[in-house]
Amino acid sequence: MVDQVTSEKHYRHRRKFIKAASAVLSVSTIQQFAKAAEKKNGASTVNGKRTNAEKLTSFQDITTYNNYYEFGTSKSSPSRLAPKFLVTEPWSVTVEGLVRNPGVFSVDDLKKIGRLVERVYRMRCVEGWSMVIPWLGFPLNALMKKVEPTGSAKFVEFITLADSSMMPEVGAINPVLDWPYREGLRIDEASNPLTLLAFGLYGKELLPQNGAPFRLVVPWKYGFKSAKSLVKIRFIENMPITSWVKANPKEYGFYSNVNPNVPHRRWSQATERRIGDVGLFSPKRKTLMFNGYEEEVAHMYTGMNLKHFF
Ligand code: MTE
Repeated sequence: MVDQVTSEKHYRHRRKFIKAASAVLSVSTIQQFAKAAEKKNGASTVNGKRTNAEKLTSFQDITTYNNYYEFGTSKSSPSRLAPKFLVTEPWSVTVEGLVRNPGVFSVDDLKKIGRLVERVYRMRCVEGWSMVIPWLGFPLNALMKKVEPTGSAKFVEFITLADSSMMPEVGAINPVLDWPYREGLRIDEASNPLTLLAFGLYGKELLPQNGAPFRLVVPWKYGFKSAKSLVKIRFIENMPITSWVKANPKEYGFYSNVNPNVPHRRWSQATERRIGDVGLFSPKRKTLMFNGYEEEVAHMYTGMNLKHFF
């Protein structure tokens, strides 16, 4: 099940997004986006399917309740500090390793690689909360087509910016993680059509606290797999050691697929709190297998023991 918000209200909003976005995104990007948005299903659905509308989390919540540990561990520090300190221009992303066409891409070059899409995805954090976010970007597989991984590339490693002059936690004496923040996917997960390279949300450029200028979005995995502010994408043969696995291998696994049946060592993953649901009696929601994207991704894990490969 893929929830895409396709209500009339959303379409009216989308027109506004496009208008708002034109203020900040390049002309060609906007034209591309507008064209995509016109194709009723093409821009907003995955595999041509649309299902029940789910209320979008507010722009305010998405941009002020964040995890971006390089800027501190409280939910409010990324939006307080990242806009002040994170310099995203100039920026480049190096794509290297087991590929036929490695390269260093500027943000403008990267934006031109794939067809721009808006994807409304649930994001489920391993901590037990969730949001519904309208991302703007393109499937990572468009970049993969361009760089052409060789047959021996079995995994993709994602490395994000670690600059102590911009990021207070990177210069800390006892940092929470061993920087830079590293994530990884198996090559088939990376090329799954749901996996996005995002550079916007709500029709605007990503704000620094959400991982500007480019981040990964992997909607069927816990949010920490969606690495922010990417600087390097590396195609490799062996499973990389990711930041959270290195920090605590008993609690965090490489796969980290959203799974209500596999509890975290310290809490259940059966339910979640939707950010923005207000009121004392607003119930927790049931967490869905693969965050609700089972139809699109379950085939990649056939025969795997998901308790073991958590
Ligand atoms: N990427 C980097 N570089 N540093 C981080 O601390 N936190 C992760 C992920 N990507 C993180 C990161 C976690 S735990 C989550 S839940 C999501 O980003 C949060 O994304 P959001 O703040 O845009 O909602």
